[in-house]
Amino acid sequence: MNTLRTGFLKWGRLRQAMRGLYLVVLVLGLAKANGQIVLTKANNDTSNSLPHLEKRGAVTQLIVDGQPFLVLGGEVHNSTTSNLDYLRPIWSKLAADRLNTVLVPVSWELVEPTEGKFDFSLVDGMLAAARENKLHLVLLWMGSWKNSTSRYAADWVKADQDRFPRVQNADGQSLEILSAFTSATRDADARAFAALMKHVREQDSTQHTVIMIQMQNEVGVLGASRDHSPAANAAFARPVPMALMDYLAQHKDVLLPELRKLWDATGNPTSGTWTQVFGDGPATDQIFMAWNYAQYMGRISFAGKAEYSLPTFVNTWIVQPEDKGPGDYPSGGPIADVHDIWRVGASAIDLLCPDVYLPNFPEILDKYRRSGNPVFIPESRAGAGGAANAFYAIGQAGAIGYSPFGIEDVQSGPYIPTGSSFSSASSRGSSTDIVSGDPIVRTYSLLSKIAPLILAHQADQSIAGVWLTTKQSTQSVSLGNYTLNFSIRTNRRATSTDAPTVGYALVLQLGPDEYLVAGTDVQVTFTPHPPGPAIAGLLSVEEGDYVDNKWVPGRRLNGDEVQLRYDLSAAAAEGQSGAGLRFNANGPTFQKVKLYRYR
Ligand code: DGJ
Repeated sequence: MNTLRTGFLKWGRLRQAMRGLYLVVLVLGLAKANGQIVLTKANNDTSNSLPHLEKRGAVTQLIVDGQPFLVLGGEVHNSTTSNLDYLRPIWSKLAADRLNTVLVPVSWELVEPTEGKFDFSLVDGMLAAARENKLHLVLLWMGSWKNSTSRYAADWVKADQDRFPRVQNADGQSLEILSAFTSATRDADARAFAALMKHVREQDSTQHTVIMIQMQNEVGVLGASRDHSPAANAAFARPVPMALMDYLAQHKDVLLPELRKLWDATGNPTSGTWTQVFGDGPATDQIFMAWNYAQYMGRISFAGKAEYSLPTFVNTWIVQPEDKGPGDYPSGGPIADVHDIWRVGASAIDLLCPDVYLPNFPEILDKYRRSGNPVFIPESRAGAGGAANAFYAIGQAGAIGYSPFGIEDVQSGPYIPTGSSFSSASSRGSSTDIVSGDPIVRTYSLLSKIAPLILAHQADQSIAGVWLTTKQSTQSVSLGNYTLNFSIRTNRRATSTDAPTVGYALVLQLGPDEYLVAGTDVQVTFTPHPPGPAIAGLLSVEEGDYVDNKWVPGRRLNGDEVQLRYDLSAAAAEGQSGAGLRFNANGPTFQKVKLYRYR
């Protein structure tokens, strides 16, 4: 407890010092001009500040070395970072795949093999290798919990069940999950985590290789809807803590609907036991566990920030379609339904993040954006689906970044520059259409070229992300003076085996009548907004690429490359000319379009 209290004080002092620092230093800010990336001077340089989160315009962004930073990430497999030799060849592959950040497990069992004796050689090895390869790191602190269980806890913790008790199910059977109701366990984890953060500060506070920290991994109770250990039962019988009750009362009108519904059903009591306030059942067990996991992990995050204040986040094992209730998925983890509980219970944790392997990515993300929660995807897929997810997250949800899991397994491959990638309206693609490599690698290659531009457009909301499948094959985006009508690419002679199943695009509005679009397997038409003439025509379309932050045009596209339909009267009735942009399978590639209007 004392260590933790001292921790809180130190953290407060550090934050004060940081605030002072912000006032006296100068910043190089980013601005955008017609799609060119321009550096501007502002009067509060934070280039030496620690990586931190900052509200910029409409979004919260991660600031690294004074500049907004877009995480093009990937998480390695769970055991990969336990051996530096095993890791050695992986770094250069990830750098070549255009990642800028690697999410790496750091486990309690390996950093504190004996109580109080720390070994950070794996961390140091990762720092050195990441720097050599110009990569940043997000450390995944696997302490008390990983995927609900406690297999990454130190051996001396696992072996001492009396000092570090386990979760019990309703039959009193112990599960291999450390109970969140024991301060000895929480404090031991907090000491180890604080030691890690102290070490990171000592090794990295000037280089900023480490940019964020994940607290534990996919926490919650599996196998029961709540912990039934004696300490947990005692807590469950006590009144709901006043901190939570006060929050409910003060935020009654803005509570997320799932929580509000439970509280409404009991008549909105302002005090009482968990069942009196939220009702009797698994949903209440889940809230009870969420509060207690949040309290435990918030305290650990606090202790770590006291040593070195990096942004922290928690990742979530989200509800799967086959799950019947909490306990089938980790009960108490930060699923969207209990975000209010996590917000008030763990104020030292900055982001609540989903791990998304399910196909309904936009829907899940939309739930994680509520209440101003900044979006970051620590785990998802690679492949074409992953590329679509990355575009949607970054373009549509203002995400800080994206990270497929098992990144060392994705197939590297060259990015085929624009110019070799266009097929005509009526013909199949040429043989140069064939590219190797995972689509996420090609997508990261493209995103890395325009990351500063994307971040500037995120801030002023002049960006959109498009995510299409055969089931959800159209998406309209209203951006500036036009609606952009995207559809999955259909109008080529596709055979059943090569018809696209996924299409994706990113749109940046560069001017009143100008857009930069990047896409794969999509086409897009433009409908003007009133006032003004009702039909949008293409003034010019260029394919091209960004080289050293500058647009380098390729072919000027016209004719078959832009004509999407010839039923011109029907098109005119829809405010269209019949022409638009087409992106085929081997992207994503860039096109810049200027529009004009006629009556
Ligand atoms: C989600 C977990 O968070 C990861 O650590 C890993 O176990 C993956 N699932 C495996 O698919």
